[in-house]
Amino acid sequence: MLKNRNFYSDKLWFFVAVAIAGLIAGAVLITSFGNVSQHSLLCSLAGSYKRIGDSTQNQQLQTILHYATSRVVPQQSISEIRVSFDVLQSLSPCNFLIFGLGHDSLMWSSFNPRGTTLFLEEDSKWIQSVLKDASHLNAHHVVYPTHLSQADELIKSYRSEPDCLPSNTKSPITNVHTQCKLALTSLPKEVYDKEWDLIMIDAPKGYYPEAPGRMGAIYSAVVMARARMRPGVTHVFLHDVDRRVEKMFAEEFLCKKYLVKAVGRLWHFEIPSAVNDTGNGGATTTGSFC
Ligand SMILES: C[S@@+](CC[C@H](N)C(=O)[O-])C[C@H]1O[C@@H](n2cnc3c(N)ncnc32)[C@H](O)[C@@H]1O
Repeated sequence: MLKNRNFYSDKLWFFVAVAIAGLIAGAVLITSFGNVSQHSLLCSLAGSYKRIGDSTQNQQLQTILHYATSRVVPQQSISEIRVSFDVLQSLSPCNFLIFGLGHDSLMWSSFNPRGTTLFLEEDSKWIQSVLKDASHLNAHHVVYPTHLSQADELIKSYRSEPDCLPSNTKSPITNVHTQCKLALTSLPKEVYDKEWDLIMIDAPKGYYPEAPGRMGAIYSAVVMARARMRPGVTHVFLHDVDRRVEKMFAEEFLCKKYLVKAVGRLWHFEIPSAVNDTGNGGATTTGSFC
């Protein structure tokens, strides 16, 4: 009996000992798992911090956050945006020059990661307002020398000014002494120093007579495109082509024969370089850009 009682009491102690050992082992295991998961968490945090340190990725994340939480959308429709988006998909990182700063600026900049995206804007208060939430954008203030009300006179008279003609436009844009009123000669130096793969013209304002109008931007874009030394064409996107002046200047300088896509109020031109083109199919010698 006593032997039996001792046996059961030994067995009980054995089970208690095993249970305590199990508890201790469990605790040790849980602690070590905890350490492992804590370690992985630290690793992933360190990785995140490293990635956040990558300013391009950080800007992309900021852009997603901005558009996900903003009720204001860009003025171009999705099908219009897609035209330049598709070109950027094939050329980025590239040089992208944009006339106008707006609710679409963060989007354009993030479509060209590690490329150069430069914005030109005439309204300094509007620049401050846009940069308040997107300080990394490369935006410059510019002054346009003409007004929308001069558009008809400018298009009638440019052919009688030799400095405006295509045969003299290898790089008149950088020539501050040009007599051509359409040439934008006081843009930031970076504009002239680079060859632009894409030029988006969605500014300056062109909807009231005293507004600058887009005449100079259209003319200067084609001059830069024609002076291109690098291989490939220059993609020029012009918005608001439902307006008389945009349409008239596009047909005069960007040329219907270079129009490759028309979507909504957006025209997309592919302008070839004229650097090695002595005659431009005869057009240059007749004083025409087309
Ligand atoms: C047709 S808007 C370009 C708008 C731009 N593409 C967008 O989607 O926001 C042309 C010009 O209008 C002016 N502008 C546009 N939105 C503005 C605003 N909310 N307040 C003041 N000026 C604005 C800027 O001078 C800009 O360059």
